[in-house]
Amino acid sequence: MRLVHTPAEFREACDEARRAGQRVGFVPTMGALHEGHLALVREARKHAQLVCVSIFVNEAQFGPNEDFSRYPRDLAGDAEKLRGASADLLFAPAAAAMYEEGEATRVRVSRLTEVLCGPFRPGHFEGVTTVVAKLLGLAGSSVAVFGRKDYQQLAVIRRMVKDLYMPVEIVGHPIIREESGLALSSRNAYLSADERARALSLSRGLRKASAAFASGERSATALRGLVHAEVVANADSIDYVDVADPDTLSVFSADVASGAPPSVGARALVAIACRVGKTRLIDNTVLGEDVLA
Ligand code: PAF
Repeated sequence: MRLVHTPAEFREACDEARRAGQRVGFVPTMGALHEGHLALVREARKHAQLVCVSIFVNEAQFGPNEDFSRYPRDLAGDAEKLRGASADLLFAPAAAAMYEEGEATRVRVSRLTEVLCGPFRPGHFEGVTTVVAKLLGLAGSSVAVFGRKDYQQLAVIRRMVKDLYMPVEIVGHPIIREESGLALSSRNAYLSADERARALSLSRGLRKASAAFASGERSATALRGLVHAEVVANADSIDYVDVADPDTLSVFSADVASGAPPSVGARALVAIACRVGKTRLIDNTVLGEDVLA
């Protein structure tokens, strides 16, 4: 696996592959790689001959009280894991290379960023879309793979790519879970044994909602209630437990005119963000589409 640090080297490697008739696959990450990331790398391999991964802890997407400085960093260990997953190229730029002196462009997607995590993490999605636009600009025509644990991020990136006519196919990969149900996340490393046990309430709540939906429950209030009851009993604080349209991300709420209680359709996104201890965890499922065992 080739390790490159400059944007010019990354761009040239992608250009060279395309000149040789190869397709470029790209997995942007912030490192602290786990099996979930490696599944994205293997997915990229299905679509491409040159599989590139970036590792860049993007300060612009962290709020002032978030975990930028303590975010786990282990470039050598990550490189080893990527070699094991047969990635071809690792792009690990310095901050000054991604945000050069004088740069002045920010990319902001509206609407989709104003719900769910948006109000709780001001500026977060602008930080994500700005760095992903830069990374995709360097990769050029490619297939980029993102995990569905960050469901809203994936929806926002899809919108940006479509709106800006970027020559990139976006592939969303299913959430990878531990056998316990816990969705894999780099931030799970922060959890104590007690917090890890309490963190299982997220997937447990989602499974209950999936089972209720499979048995015919269509009340958004009831579905939300099942998940909320699990999470509120275990988390230290809740940002949201929402039932939303999986495409627009609009939260299902009572009909304004009739006051009729909210009812979901054939598909519904159930999304959670909460804190267990000091660790912010997110999880989701799409009812009517994903099967959460
Ligand atoms: O999902 C992540 O790891 C990050 O948000 C991303 C997409 C690499 C942008 O920094």
